[in-house]
Amino acid sequence: MLFRCLNCRGKLQLLSQCRGYAEGIQGKPKLEPFVSINNVDYARDNYTNVTPKILSYLGRNLHREKYHPISFVKRRIENYFYKNFIGRRGNPMFSMHDNLNPVVSVESNFDNLLIPADHVSRQKGDCYYINKNYLLRAHTTAHQFDLIKMGLDHFIVTGDVYRRDEIDSTHFPVFHQSDAVRLFTREQLAAVAGHEIEPFELNGIENEEKQAQHTLEASKLIEKELKSTLLSLIFNIFGGEMPHRWVDVYFPFTHPSWELEIEHNGTWMEVLGCGVMRQDIIKRAGAGDRICWAFGMGLERLAMHLYKIPDIRLFWSKDSGFLSQFNVDDPNVNITYKPVSVYPQLTNDLSFWLPVDREYCSNDFYDLVRDIGGNIVEQINLVDEFRHPKTGKVSHCYRIVYRHMEKTLTQEEVNEVHFKLRQAVVDVLNGAVR
Ligand code: DAH
Repeated sequence: MLFRCLNCRGKLQLLSQCRGYAEGIQGKPKLEPFVSINNVDYARDNYTNVTPKILSYLGRNLHREKYHPISFVKRRIENYFYKNFIGRRGNPMFSMHDNLNPVVSVESNFDNLLIPADHVSRQKGDCYYINKNYLLRAHTTAHQFDLIKMGLDHFIVTGDVYRRDEIDSTHFPVFHQSDAVRLFTREQLAAVAGHEIEPFELNGIENEEKQAQHTLEASKLIEKELKSTLLSLIFNIFGGEMPHRWVDVYFPFTHPSWELEIEHNGTWMEVLGCGVMRQDIIKRAGAGDRICWAFGMGLERLAMHLYKIPDIRLFWSKDSGFLSQFNVDDPNVNITYKPVSVYPQLTNDLSFWLPVDREYCSNDFYDLVRDIGGNIVEQINLVDEFRHPKTGKVSHCYRIVYRHMEKTLTQEEVNEVHFKLRQAVVDVLNGAVR
């Protein structure tokens, strides 16, 4: 983690590079008491785990760049809905929102979606918290409640989302999602069914197929409409049908819920989650007379499949070798990514004793590596874990694979990063390098 030392004024730096700290004259550097994002100051507290590196992704907005595979996928989704869902006056039925603030409250990201207080997805180890009340949204679903409350009935939200995770060719702490919501009034439901249909029942019970408040007929109709919309959308994005399957899953905010998987390189790849929205959410948002479906999909996965992009870090490349391949005006043009060239990997191991005086999780180390190594870190794996039989101390050994996307790295360049990393393990994590 990089620090802004108040004593040294201004510059973001590693603890080991802080002059005041090195000279031992000013004691521990003080952290700025606020995290400042888009001119708003958020008070730090013991939840704060967002790093300057992660905050540096906030303005990139790949989904709004004109010539970029992520924005092409977004536009394919939006165009599908513009074309196939037309309002009474010939206007688009769904409104599109791709510029909502990625800083959201804990209520928006979790509480309003009925995600329980002790749910794993809320852990500090999984999210980037700004403080105990705010975080970088972990999914675009975070906006659903607020938009329904504002009176919207049909909408799509696209944006960057943030999750602490491991590092490899398919995981990056920032990625993009599109979430959609469609609310049905009684009349709209009848129009879809072709006849009157009762959406709600009193004293009903919840089972695998429906929520307590819904009639089986209405729940089944929403399911059918949702699944056919999604298959048609996916086939439209990929320009034809493909092997796929529906998997029953659980989300706190929908019931029943499913994931759609498509075949990708000989295995099943999950592309979206969806379901019938919990009636309690809709009711609390003030639209309890309607029944609703919702879905959320990850844009990187779709883009990797669509354009045969082998590594998720490529989306962040500013190299013209990558970007020039997407320099077309029509997002529907078929493009197959051609690797500019493949540069060699360099591997280094790092072992250290974990701190005993504080909490530690591997994601802490991954964030540190990201801060220091940036995008030349391709993979990190925990390759060995060892508990000393006498002292009880635990040691982790991580294997770090370095690779530059656009050039061959030298061993010296990697050693320099690796050396800084060893130092930071001591300074920032309180680990003892072995
Ligand atoms: N938010 C879920 C995720 O990130 C995906 C999702 C599932 C979104 C169901 C939805 C939904 O809107 O209804 O994994």
